Amino acid sequence: MAAEVIDGKAFAADVRGKVADHVARLKADHGLVPGLAVVLVGEDPASQVYVRNKGKQTVEAGMHSEEHRLDADVDEKTLLDTVARLNADPKIHGILVQLPLPSHLNSDLVINSIDPAKDVDGFHISNVGLLGTGQKSMVPCTPLGCLMLLRDRLGNLSGLNAVVVGRSNIVGKPMAQLLLGDSCTVTIAHSRTKEIEALCRTADILVAAVGRPEMVTGDWVKPGATVIDVGINRVPNGEKTKLVGDCDYASCAEVAGAITPVPGGVGPMTIACLLANTVTACCRANG
Ligand code: GUN
Repeated sequence: MAAEVIDGKAFAADVRGKVADHVARLKADHGLVPGLAVVLVGEDPASQVYVRNKGKQTVEAGMHSEEHRLDADVDEKTLLDTVARLNADPKIHGILVQLPLPSHLNSDLVINSIDPAKDVDGFHISNVGLLGTGQKSMVPCTPLGCLMLLRDRLGNLSGLNAVVVGRSNIVGKPMAQLLLGDSCTVTIAHSRTKEIEALCRTADILVAAVGRPEMVTGDWVKPGATVIDVGINRVPNGEKTKLVGDCDYASCAEVAGAITPVPGGVGPMTIACLLANTVTACCRANG
Protein backbone atom coordinates (compact mmCIF):
# COMPACT_ATOMS: atom_id res chain seq x y z
CA MET A 1 0.00 0.00 0.00
CA ALA A 2 1.30 3.45 -0.87
CA ALA A 3 2.34 5.67 2.01
CA GLU A 4 0.36 8.67 3.15
CA VAL A 5 2.09 11.84 1.93
CA ILE A 6 2.84 14.25 4.77
CA ASP A 7 2.01 17.71 3.40
CA GLY A 8 4.62 19.95 5.00
CA LYS A 9 3.71 22.82 2.70
CA ALA A 10 0.14 22.97 4.00
CA PHE A 11 1.23 22.40 7.61
CA ALA A 12 3.80 25.20 7.35
CA ALA A 13 1.19 27.57 5.90
CA ASP A 14 -0.99 26.80 8.93
CA VAL A 15 1.91 27.50 11.34
CA ARG A 16 2.65 30.78 9.54
CA GLY A 17 -1.02 31.76 9.82
CA LYS A 18 -0.94 31.14 13.59
CA VAL A 19 2.30 33.12 13.87
CA ALA A 20 0.69 36.03 11.96
CA ASP A 21 -2.32 35.95 14.35
CA HIS A 22 0.02 36.01 17.35
CA VAL A 23 2.01 38.90 15.84
CA ALA A 24 -1.21 40.87 15.27
CA ARG A 25 -2.22 40.34 18.93
CA LEU A 26 1.23 41.40 20.20
CA LYS A 27 0.94 44.58 18.13
CA ALA A 28 -2.62 45.37 19.16
CA ASP A 29 -2.33 44.51 22.86
CA HIS A 30 1.28 45.44 23.67
CA GLY A 31 2.56 47.60 20.78
CA LEU A 32 5.25 44.96 20.11
CA VAL A 33 6.60 44.06 16.67
CA PRO A 34 8.87 40.99 16.60
CA GLY A 35 12.01 41.64 14.54
CA LEU A 36 14.27 39.17 12.75
CA ALA A 37 17.72 40.01 11.36
CA VAL A 38 19.42 37.70 8.90
CA VAL A 39 23.14 38.05 8.24
CA LEU A 40 24.38 36.70 4.92
CA VAL A 41 28.08 36.55 4.09
CA GLY A 42 29.00 36.12 0.42
CA GLU A 43 26.97 35.28 -2.65
CA ASP A 44 26.15 31.56 -2.38
CA PRO A 45 23.08 31.23 -4.67
CA ALA A 46 21.24 28.68 -2.50
CA SER A 47 21.77 30.82 0.61
CA GLN A 48 20.53 33.90 -1.26
CA VAL A 49 17.30 32.09 -2.16
CA TYR A 50 16.78 30.98 1.46
CA VAL A 51 17.46 34.47 2.79
CA ARG A 52 15.07 36.07 0.30
CA ASN A 53 12.32 33.63 1.28
CA LYS A 54 12.94 34.22 4.97
CA GLY A 55 12.67 38.00 4.51
CA LYS A 56 9.48 37.70 2.45
CA GLN A 57 7.72 35.37 4.88
CA THR A 58 8.82 37.44 7.89
CA VAL A 59 7.16 40.53 6.40
CA GLU A 60 4.05 38.53 5.39
CA ALA A 61 3.66 37.48 9.03
CA GLY A 62 3.61 41.18 10.03
CA MET A 63 7.08 41.18 11.54
CA HIS A 64 10.06 43.51 11.15
CA SER A 65 12.72 42.05 8.83
CA GLU A 66 16.33 43.11 8.26
CA GLU A 67 18.96 41.67 5.95
CA HIS A 68 22.64 42.38 6.51
CA ARG A 69 24.79 41.39 3.54
CA LEU A 70 28.54 41.25 3.90
CA ASP A 71 31.19 40.54 1.27
CA ALA A 72 32.57 37.00 1.04
CA ASP A 73 36.01 38.25 2.15
CA VAL A 74 34.70 40.21 5.16
CA ASP A 75 37.01 40.06 8.18
CA GLU A 76 35.85 38.35 11.34
CA LYS A 77 35.82 41.56 13.41
CA THR A 78 33.38 43.25 11.01
CA LEU A 79 31.05 40.25 11.23
CA LEU A 80 31.33 40.11 15.04
CA ASP A 81 30.65 43.87 15.21
CA THR A 82 27.52 43.38 13.08
CA VAL A 83 26.26 40.68 15.45
CA ALA A 84 27.10 42.87 18.48
CA ARG A 85 25.05 45.76 17.05
CA LEU A 86 22.09 43.43 16.47
CA ASN A 87 22.45 42.00 19.99
CA ALA A 88 22.08 45.55 21.34
CA ASP A 89 19.21 46.57 19.02
CA PRO A 90 15.81 46.50 20.80
CA LYS A 91 13.94 46.22 17.45
CA ILE A 92 15.63 42.86 16.85
CA HIS A 93 14.46 39.77 18.77
CA GLY A 94 15.94 37.10 16.52
CA ILE A 95 19.33 36.91 14.80
CA LEU A 96 20.25 34.31 12.20
CA VAL A 97 23.70 34.08 10.63
CA GLN A 98 23.27 32.05 7.46
CA LEU A 99 25.53 28.98 7.33
CA PRO A 100 27.85 27.82 5.94
CA LEU A 101 30.21 30.77 6.42
CA PRO A 102 33.29 31.17 4.20
CA SER A 103 36.12 29.02 5.55
CA HIS A 104 38.27 31.93 6.82
CA LEU A 105 35.57 32.70 9.42
CA ASN A 106 35.22 30.73 12.66
CA SER A 107 31.55 29.68 12.66
CA ASP A 108 31.56 28.54 16.30
CA LEU A 109 32.97 31.89 17.44
CA VAL A 110 30.41 33.83 15.39
CA ILE A 111 27.42 31.71 16.47
CA ASN A 112 28.46 31.91 20.12
CA SER A 113 28.69 35.71 19.88
CA ILE A 114 24.90 35.89 19.30
CA ASP A 115 22.90 36.72 22.44
CA PRO A 116 21.46 33.25 23.34
CA ALA A 117 18.05 34.90 23.91
CA LYS A 118 18.11 36.09 20.26
CA ASP A 119 19.57 32.87 18.86
CA VAL A 120 16.49 31.77 16.89
CA ASP A 121 18.52 29.01 15.20
CA GLY A 122 19.20 27.39 18.58
CA PHE A 123 22.86 26.88 17.62
CA HIS A 124 24.48 28.82 20.51
CA ILE A 125 26.28 26.51 22.89
CA SER A 126 23.97 27.63 25.76
CA ASN A 127 20.88 26.63 23.81
CA VAL A 128 22.49 23.33 22.79
CA GLY A 129 23.18 22.61 26.47
CA LEU A 130 19.69 23.64 27.57
CA LEU A 131 18.09 21.39 24.94
CA GLY A 132 20.36 18.48 25.90
CA THR A 133 19.35 18.79 29.55
CA GLY A 134 15.64 19.16 28.82
CA GLN A 135 15.45 22.83 29.79
CA LYS A 136 13.65 25.69 28.06
CA SER A 137 15.77 26.74 25.06
CA MET A 138 15.63 27.98 21.52
CA VAL A 139 15.10 24.84 19.42
CA PRO A 140 16.74 24.48 15.96
CA CYS A 141 14.12 25.13 13.30
CA THR A 142 14.43 22.11 11.00
CA PRO A 143 14.29 19.45 13.76
CA LEU A 144 11.46 21.38 15.43
CA GLY A 145 9.54 21.29 12.14
CA CYS A 146 10.13 17.53 11.85
CA LEU A 147 8.90 17.01 15.41
CA MET A 148 5.70 18.96 14.68
CA LEU A 149 5.00 16.79 11.62
CA LEU A 150 5.66 13.61 13.61
CA ARG A 151 3.41 14.62 16.51
CA ASP A 152 0.68 15.59 14.06
CA ARG A 153 0.84 12.22 12.31
CA LEU A 154 1.53 9.90 15.26
CA GLY A 155 0.23 11.72 18.34
CA ASN A 156 2.18 10.44 21.34
CA LEU A 157 5.69 9.32 20.30
CA SER A 158 6.48 7.62 23.63
CA GLY A 159 8.25 4.27 23.30
CA LEU A 160 8.67 4.38 19.53
CA ASN A 161 11.99 3.37 17.98
CA ALA A 162 13.53 6.33 16.17
CA VAL A 163 16.61 6.19 13.95
CA VAL A 164 18.15 9.49 12.86
CA VAL A 165 20.53 9.07 9.93
CA GLY A 166 23.05 11.92 10.12
CA ARG A 167 24.89 13.51 13.04
CA SER A 168 25.09 17.20 12.11
CA ASN A 169 24.83 19.91 14.75
CA ILE A 170 22.07 21.58 12.70
CA VAL A 171 19.73 18.60 12.30
CA GLY A 172 20.88 15.13 13.42
CA LYS A 173 21.96 15.81 16.99
CA PRO A 174 19.13 18.21 17.97
CA MET A 175 16.60 15.91 16.23
CA ALA A 176 17.80 13.05 18.43
CA GLN A 177 17.47 15.24 21.56
CA LEU A 178 13.92 16.24 20.65
CA LEU A 179 12.85 12.64 20.00
CA LEU A 180 14.43 11.59 23.30
CA GLY A 181 12.49 14.41 24.96
CA ASP A 182 9.33 12.81 23.58
CA SER A 183 10.42 9.44 25.09
CA CYS A 184 11.43 7.70 21.87
CA THR A 185 14.21 5.11 21.91
CA VAL A 186 16.72 6.96 19.74
CA THR A 187 19.69 5.80 17.69
CA ILE A 188 21.88 8.10 15.59
CA ALA A 189 23.30 6.40 12.51
CA HIS A 190 26.11 7.82 10.38
CA SER A 191 28.70 6.98 7.75
CA ARG A 192 30.56 4.57 10.05
CA THR A 193 27.47 2.74 11.34
CA LYS A 194 27.60 -1.01 10.77
CA GLU A 195 24.66 -2.72 9.07
CA ILE A 196 22.85 0.57 8.71
CA GLU A 197 20.04 -0.89 6.56
CA ALA A 198 19.11 -3.46 9.21
CA LEU A 199 19.27 -0.79 11.92
CA CYS A 200 16.99 1.51 9.94
CA ARG A 201 14.51 -1.35 9.47
CA THR A 202 14.00 -1.36 13.27
CA ALA A 203 12.74 2.25 13.13
CA ASP A 204 9.12 3.25 13.65
CA ILE A 205 10.39 6.77 12.88
CA LEU A 206 13.16 7.14 10.32
CA VAL A 207 14.69 10.60 9.88
CA ALA A 208 17.15 11.00 7.00
CA ALA A 209 19.44 14.03 7.30
CA VAL A 210 22.71 13.19 5.59
CA GLY A 211 22.76 15.33 2.45
CA ARG A 212 23.29 12.33 0.13
CA PRO A 213 20.77 12.11 -2.71
CA GLU A 214 18.37 9.15 -2.45
CA MET A 215 20.64 7.15 -0.13
CA VAL A 216 17.82 5.56 1.87
CA THR A 217 15.91 3.03 -0.21
CA GLY A 218 12.71 1.08 0.44
CA ASP A 219 14.57 -1.96 1.77
CA TRP A 220 15.83 0.21 4.67
CA VAL A 221 12.28 0.97 5.77
CA LYS A 222 10.13 -1.01 8.22
CA PRO A 223 6.64 -1.58 6.79
CA GLY A 224 4.33 1.15 8.08
CA ALA A 225 7.15 3.36 9.41
CA THR A 226 6.99 7.15 9.29
CA VAL A 227 9.80 8.50 7.12
CA ILE A 228 10.97 12.11 7.46
CA ASP A 229 13.25 13.21 4.65
CA VAL A 230 15.29 16.29 5.56
CA GLY A 231 17.52 16.20 2.47
CA ILE A 232 17.38 18.89 -0.21
CA ASN A 233 19.79 17.84 -2.95
CA ARG A 234 19.99 19.35 -6.40
CA VAL A 235 20.87 16.66 -8.97
CA PRO A 236 21.19 16.63 -12.78
CA ASN A 237 17.99 15.81 -14.66
CA GLY A 238 18.66 15.72 -18.40
CA GLU A 239 19.55 19.27 -19.44
CA LYS A 240 18.19 20.67 -16.20
CA THR A 241 18.37 19.86 -12.47
CA LYS A 242 15.81 18.65 -9.95
CA LEU A 243 15.50 18.51 -6.18
CA VAL A 244 15.59 15.13 -4.46
CA GLY A 245 15.75 14.13 -0.82
CA ASP A 246 18.03 11.76 1.07
CA CYS A 247 15.40 9.05 0.51
CA ASP A 248 14.57 7.33 -2.74
CA TYR A 249 10.96 8.49 -2.64
CA ALA A 250 9.38 5.89 -4.93
CA SER A 251 10.76 2.81 -3.18
CA CYS A 252 10.41 4.22 0.38
CA ALA A 253 6.78 5.25 -0.29
CA GLU A 254 5.94 1.66 -1.22
CA VAL A 255 6.89 0.44 2.26
CA ALA A 256 6.39 3.38 4.64
CA GLY A 257 3.12 4.23 6.36
CA ALA A 258 3.77 7.94 5.77
CA ILE A 259 6.54 9.97 4.17
CA THR A 260 7.49 13.59 3.59
CA PRO A 261 8.05 14.51 -0.08
CA VAL A 262 10.89 16.66 -1.43
CA PRO A 263 10.09 19.42 -2.14
CA GLY A 264 7.02 20.21 -0.03
CA GLY A 265 7.78 18.21 3.11
CA VAL A 266 10.25 19.34 5.77
CA GLY A 267 11.65 22.32 3.79
CA PRO A 268 8.73 24.76 4.30
CA MET A 269 8.60 23.90 8.01
CA THR A 270 12.06 25.37 8.64
CA ILE A 271 11.11 28.98 7.90
CA ALA A 272 7.72 28.58 9.62
CA CYS A 273 9.55 27.47 12.79
CA LEU A 274 12.03 30.33 12.43
CA LEU A 275 9.13 32.80 12.49
CA ALA A 276 7.62 30.99 15.49
CA ASN A 277 10.98 31.10 17.31
CA THR A 278 11.25 34.84 16.65
CA VAL A 279 7.83 35.43 18.20
CA THR A 280 8.85 33.25 21.17
CA ALA A 281 12.06 35.29 21.58
CA CYS A 282 10.08 38.54 21.44
CA CYS A 283 7.61 37.30 24.08
CA ARG A 284 10.39 36.08 26.40
CA ALA A 285 12.30 39.39 26.01
CA ASN A 286 9.17 41.30 27.04
CA GLY A 287 8.25 39.14 30.01
N1 GUN B 1 21.92 26.83 6.44
C1 GUN B 1 21.13 25.77 6.14
N2 GUN B 1 20.16 25.61 7.08
C2 GUN B 1 20.35 26.59 7.98
C3 GUN B 1 19.65 26.96 9.17
O1 GUN B 1 18.68 26.33 9.60
N3 GUN B 1 20.16 28.04 9.82
C4 GUN B 1 21.25 28.73 9.38
N4 GUN B 1 21.67 29.78 10.11
N5 GUN B 1 21.91 28.42 8.28
C5 GUN B 1 21.45 27.35 7.59
